[in-house]
Amino acid sequence: MFLWGTATAAYQIEGAAGEDGRGPSVWDTFAHEPGRVRDGHTGDVACDHYHRWREDVALLAGLGAGAYRFSISWPRVLPEGAGAPNPKGLDFYDRLVDGLLAAGVTPVPTLFHWDLPQALQDRGGWLNRDVAGWFADYAAVVAERLADRVRMWITLNEPFVHMAFGYGMGVHAPGQALLLDALPVAHHQLLGHGLAVRALRAAGAAEVLLTNNCTPVRPASDAPRDVAAADAYDVLHNRLFADPVLLGRYPDLSAYGIDAPDDALGVRDGDLAVISAPLDGLGVNYYNPTRIAAPAEPGLPFADVGITGHPTTAFGWPVVPDGLRELLTGLRDRYGAALPPIYVTENGCSQPDELTPEGVVDDQERIAFLRDHIAAVDRARAEGVDVRGYFVWSLLDNFEWAEGYHQRFGLVHVDFATQRRTPKASYHWFRDFLAAR
Ligand code: FCB
Repeated sequence: MFLWGTATAAYQIEGAAGEDGRGPSVWDTFAHEPGRVRDGHTGDVACDHYHRWREDVALLAGLGAGAYRFSISWPRVLPEGAGAPNPKGLDFYDRLVDGLLAAGVTPVPTLFHWDLPQALQDRGGWLNRDVAGWFADYAAVVAERLADRVRMWITLNEPFVHMAFGYGMGVHAPGQALLLDALPVAHHQLLGHGLAVRALRAAGAAEVLLTNNCTPVRPASDAPRDVAAADAYDVLHNRLFADPVLLGRYPDLSAYGIDAPDDALGVRDGDLAVISAPLDGLGVNYYNPTRIAAPAEPGLPFADVGITGHPTTAFGWPVVPDGLRELLTGLRDRYGAALPPIYVTENGCSQPDELTPEGVVDDQERIAFLRDHIAAVDRARAEGVDVRGYFVWSLLDNFEWAEGYHQRFGLVHVDFATQRRTPKASYHWFRDFLAAR
């Protein structure tokens, strides 16, 4: 069975940041610091999904997609990150899961979509190895409550982006710019993933996935130095987060001047066995390919020179549907029998959507984007890649991290002043597509 769905994340939609015992997360802290998020936007209210979830479940039911990927807010469940759970937080997800099931929608929760409890950040965040164990404890608390009804679970969302943007460059929470000193964040997240896999299975979870942000990397030219730079980037973005999980070892980091990757990452005996526990699927988020050249200046061993010659989204991201086929077949070629079934857990685009006075958002570019990317998935499947799901990012326009409310990715338009939801043309298109399929 192929899973069709849409995706969201807790901090991006829930709002109710201070309600019913929820603790602060790193994103609350970061968004409230001047200059961090465009125009000072925060997720305090977001789409107010915490209060309007019934309306959002009705939108999902109307779409006819079989599945819904959402994330659980760790600080809503455990306000201090560890210790006593917040009953009202667990109750919220319990009601949501029941509401989804009653609407015929399969719930697919992600346990960590970047909103670490601030209390754990105060202890070092993902730079502190102990967070891996606290993450597994949190996974157990949630699964003990929901695994009787939830079959499929995702541990982490995009550990690369969280490490690179949050700890490497500081453009996301927690806003640290440590460059390569951020590398232990990769290992501690993956260790947390591995420990959470155990905890989830012990609590009865049937299927467990990890979701990575993946990009096919293209060298800017055939020159050996560009090819080497592209390879270095591929190691950091893709292989660092897939090799240990699928192959049980970290890739060579010598392009980064690192001779002993395990030491730089903080690996201890036994960690890789935990991290490489078998998975039921690999979640893959795809937005665009990356074009890399040798750097002009000393520093990192690559320079992102951008893809040219393609249309771009409102974000300026190049639209390259065949990059998704290239990515999927590339994963199969690289990992072979070690690759579990793939679920495309995010794919979508921001567009300069306009709501007309008649209440119409005619987002033809998004329709073309989705149609062409789904066709690329079909080509990969025809080439023998075992792809079992596709989730559109996103159900709703929402808080797009450092861009605040400026990038709209939804199938459903949200007026953030009134919280009015308006299905866009792409929502109707996707509904009809699913019905026909
Ligand atoms: C991904 C994130 C998701 C959303 C999309 C546009 O990297 O997982 O939350 O912001 O990008």
